[in-house]
Amino acid sequence: MTGFLDLAAGIAREAGEMLLAKRPARPEAVSTKSSATDVVTALDRASEDLIRARIRAARPGDAVLGEEGGESAGEGRVRWVVDPIDGTVNFMYGLPDWCVSIAVEVDGEIVAGVVNVVPRGELYAAEKGGGAELLREGLPAERLRCNTGVPLSRALIATGFGYRPERRAVQAEVLAHVLPRVRDIRRGGSCAADLCAVASGRVDGYYERGPEYWDYAAGGLIAAEAGARIGGLDGRPCNPGLTLCAAPGLFEELHDLLAPLDPERDT
Ligand code: IPD
Ligand code: CA
Ligand code: CA
Repeated sequence: MTGFLDLAAGIAREAGEMLLAKRPARPEAVSTKSSATDVVTALDRASEDLIRARIRAARPGDAVLGEEGGESAGEGRVRWVVDPIDGTVNFMYGLPDWCVSIAVEVDGEIVAGVVNVVPRGELYAAEKGGGAELLREGLPAERLRCNTGVPLSRALIATGFGYRPERRAVQAEVLAHVLPRVRDIRRGGSCAADLCAVASGRVDGYYERGPEYWDYAAGGLIAAEAGARIGGLDGRPCNPGLTLCAAPGLFEELHDLLAPLDPERDT
């Protein structure tokens, strides 16, 4: 690990340790965002504050885009993209799929990404062109490869749901068409962890309407470096309309199942 990746991994580890140490038995929402179920805890903000402070100390000229704090301009070619807790609802309920996600862009291209799935002790890391790895304390680094050669009918597909009812109604309608055509569905509760699950072969594919850039920036690089294809509908890059990720072959099958369902709608 070198340069940006090393720094991102160190910061994601420190934020993860802080979150584990300070997480109360039942963290409470301190405010809501897009709907009453789209919550922020005090520790989402504390995690982002810590991450921003460490980036500022190490690289004061870099821009930062964070879910909670928005965009702070920089003066160079580098921007950090941060989700301080991805899977806040899991974090509140004590479920294990929540993570700290940090990506680094140079001239608008993501060059490094780390996803620290804190309760599982799993740090996923990738550098553009350098492959993806799973790092666990006391174990050798594991090179990640996504599952290949899985037809849609035998694919385990992860997905997620947005926070607003008018989006969920369409997501339920789309899901009703997908579920009879795949092995099964998983709803893990963290987009970044879902993309790492594609990278490590714990699921075969993932799709979701709604994830924002900070949700998929790091996990998307990790999945791509593990051999997966990631994108949106009709050849577009992934975007909040739709994020789709699977090995080549399954990606196209899943795409062609989803596209006629018009999954980017809200009611
Ligand atoms: C959410 C999670 C969830 C996904 C939502 C995201 P948050 O992020 O990634 O799995 O379904 O679309 O908004 O709110 O926990 O940071
Ligand atoms: Ca998120
Ligand atoms: Ca978040």
